Amino acid sequence: MKTVHQSPTEPEFVQNPYPFYRAARDHGDLVYWRDYDMPAAMSHAAVQALLRDRRFGREVPPEMATKGPDHLAPWLTVEAHSLLEAEPPRHTRLRALVLRAFTSRAIGALAPDIERLCHDLIDAFPDAPFDLLDAYCTQVPVITICRLLGVPENMAPQLLQWSHAMVAMYQASRTRETEDQAAQASAEFSAFLNDYVSHRRSEPKDDLITRLITAEEDGEKLSRDELIATCILLLNAGHEATVHSLGNGVKTLLESGTSPDALGPDTIDMTVEEILRFDPPLHMFTRYVYEDVEVFGHRFARGDQVALMLGAANRDPDVWSDPDKFDPTRSIQANTSFGGGLHFCVGAPLARLEMRIALPVLFDRCPGLRLAESPEYANTYHFHGLTRLMVQT
Ligand code: HEM
Repeated sequence: MKTVHQSPTEPEFVQNPYPFYRAARDHGDLVYWRDYDMPAAMSHAAVQALLRDRRFGREVPPEMATKGPDHLAPWLTVEAHSLLEAEPPRHTRLRALVLRAFTSRAIGALAPDIERLCHDLIDAFPDAPFDLLDAYCTQVPVITICRLLGVPENMAPQLLQWSHAMVAMYQASRTRETEDQAAQASAEFSAFLNDYVSHRRSEPKDDLITRLITAEEDGEKLSRDELIATCILLLNAGHEATVHSLGNGVKTLLESGTSPDALGPDTIDMTVEEILRFDPPLHMFTRYVYEDVEVFGHRFARGDQVALMLGAANRDPDVWSDPDKFDPTRSIQANTSFGGGLHFCVGAPLARLEMRIALPVLFDRCPGLRLAESPEYANTYHFHGLTRLMVQT
């Protein structure tokens, strides 16, 4: 396996990681990424296969699990009870509880509300250049997930602050300060939800938090720690990636001069999938190896880790012709932006719905929308999103 070197915080890579992916993929399905000290799956075939292979998973093998440093305790507690970090049977139980609230019917029913929200946000746009990431791309998902879960919308700014502090733990630029802030945010977020759950116990409504509280009350199904961790996961995952899918999407549509025809009722699904393929907000997830196994020519041992490069798989020329070209007229081929297999994104139908509504409403209401400055990506790999998106209507 070929060894490759690439710092994930190097400015040129942060702005455009795709040339590195292309060069790495030319060496084969797997390369050894020295900066992460692990093999990385670069081709679509390898990423898809490893996402679905049950000999690989997210939960740390028990013999490798450590208590972790004391200063991170509140963050580690949330992680330890998160369904994203679990494998069956714990994962199956937690995911089934969440999925009940994410039926296509329940998600579809949110459409009129999301559309109204988009219009309200656009009504408040200023005349001077402004940051669309803040004024629109962030607000649509964060307010929608608050409504779905049943958390007061006026908590949105606080939730964003907690969430940003927590997800910074997954970024290559992580420092001790990042860890302290994530621990503090986790402690505050958990305390808020503990109080809120106690209060909502006596005020049931038709929302996700009520259903999760009922599951906790039923006994064995959901512990209090799991209830808190699930709410935090949904609130954080419910906006972080969607914000940047919208931001990267608007940037791509404006830079490519894509015709508004691509946002019509018959074309929007293809455009949304192409946005997700072309410039996804999450580029890499890792897996632990659970048994000694040889795949794609490499012998893995139990306890090894492997990186699954979602952003690289989406540009694989074996699946998409001219993959570096943004082409919203492509027929839809399953891309890897939402993952695959057991951990396939629970929120994919919601994220797609938000994009399907927010993009056409924006371009319809603001036909003269243009970039007011050249957008830049933030130094937050493996997240791939803009620092801001200054536009003029
Ligand atoms: C465009 C927006 C989104 C993208 C690109 C995205 C991407 C992903 C990916 C790649 C994974 C799998 C990670 C892995 O396999 O290691 C995942 C898992 C997950 N996502 Fe999303 N997501 C998005 C929006 C959302 C939304 C809106 C929600 C919630 C409302 C959500 C909730 C989750 C949850 C709960 C998991 C964990 C599933 C599990 O472990 O079984 N995501 N997401």
